[in-house]
Amino acid sequence: MTSIPQDTSGEPNPLRALTLDRLRRRTSMKWRTYPEDVLPVWVAEMDVPLAEPVVRAVTDALALGDTGYPAGTAYAEALAGFAEKRWGWDGLAVERTRIVPDVMLGVVEMLRLVTGAGDAVVVNPPVYPPFFQFVEHMERRVVEAPLGADLRIDLGALEEAFRRAVEGGRWAAYLLCSPHNPTGTVHTADELAAVAALAERYGVRVVADEIHAPVVAAGANFVPYLSVPGAESGLSLMSASKAWNLAGLKAALAVAGPASAADLARLPEEVGHGPSHVGVIAHTAALHDGTGWLDALLAGLDDNRRLLADLLAEHLPAIGYRPAEATYLAWLDCRALGLGDDPAGVFLERGRVAVSPGIDFGTGGVGHVRLNLATSPEVIAEAVRRMGVALG
Ligand SMILES: Cc1ncc(COP(=O)(O)O)c(C=O)c1O
Repeated sequence: MTSIPQDTSGEPNPLRALTLDRLRRRTSMKWRTYPEDVLPVWVAEMDVPLAEPVVRAVTDALALGDTGYPAGTAYAEALAGFAEKRWGWDGLAVERTRIVPDVMLGVVEMLRLVTGAGDAVVVNPPVYPPFFQFVEHMERRVVEAPLGADLRIDLGALEEAFRRAVEGGRWAAYLLCSPHNPTGTVHTADELAAVAALAERYGVRVVADEIHAPVVAAGANFVPYLSVPGAESGLSLMSASKAWNLAGLKAALAVAGPASAADLARLPEEVGHGPSHVGVIAHTAALHDGTGWLDALLAGLDDNRRLLADLLAEHLPAIGYRPAEATYLAWLDCRALGLGDDPAGVFLERGRVAVSPGIDFGTGGVGHVRLNLATSPEVIAEAVRRMGVALG
């Protein structure tokens, strides 16, 4: 029988710090969307206490009444320092950054800078559902370039999508998810350079959502899109929000390459009214002082990926799962279970466990579910048990 691994590291694993009773006191989306008898392992919120440097920075700000409007470049400086230490990338120029309210609103603003109404935005399904919703809400057309069977970018499909996107001489953008949600795919430097070359050839502008960048497993290498040759005209969105669980403390950064600086400079002043000053303080502290906490989280996630693989192999071997190199999301192929297009609905109804329905992620999502691994090993074991109950 699979046993839950013991915590042996020096830095405490934040995924083991909170009990379910305590988590159920939370009022956020993860905990309040379903009734109390449902175990929530869906939306990308983490079951962790905040990193101590973040708590201290926010508490100090509140004690001081430092709750006005954001100013300065501390967040961008902290991100530039993090990028250099973590990814060996020294090309993040603070003067080519702007604070935006969050990553998705940043994506919308970047797409507005480089496309017009009716233009196409290429995405790689299965992909984070708001990529469809936000793009359509802003009157752009989604053009799909599905991932290959290996869950990696299919350059042939991408080229075909670029060709369709620019038909009639229209502007077009490519919304790259790096690392990729829900598959956890970490794109290689070669893949990203090939993307940049294709984008250049077709005149497609690349907007990279790099929100999951700090959440990369040991042994995998995140490559910032703007660091690859040929990506100078790209735009990137980064944030501490996924890696440090700060979604409720709104702040993210838009980053321009050397050839897109003039585009970013056209970002309307009003956009700067969205981010929260306290959010900026929290995100800055995370990037600046929160790397010890992040490393403990990453070690805990490695354990959780292994645990899930073992539990599935033992109890639900018909589910396909390849532990990913990044994100805290597990993409589960449930097609062999015979539960139809939406196994998440069956797991919820019969097993009282909430996972994200794969169908929401577009082409390639049918028969799949996404499970959030950013929780305790006990919750993962209970989630698998409940999935088994749903199968009867
Ligand atoms: C790929 C991706 N982009 C954006 C977001 C949302 O980020 P934000 O809350 O900063 O808009 C998420 C959240 O899970 C995500 O997975």
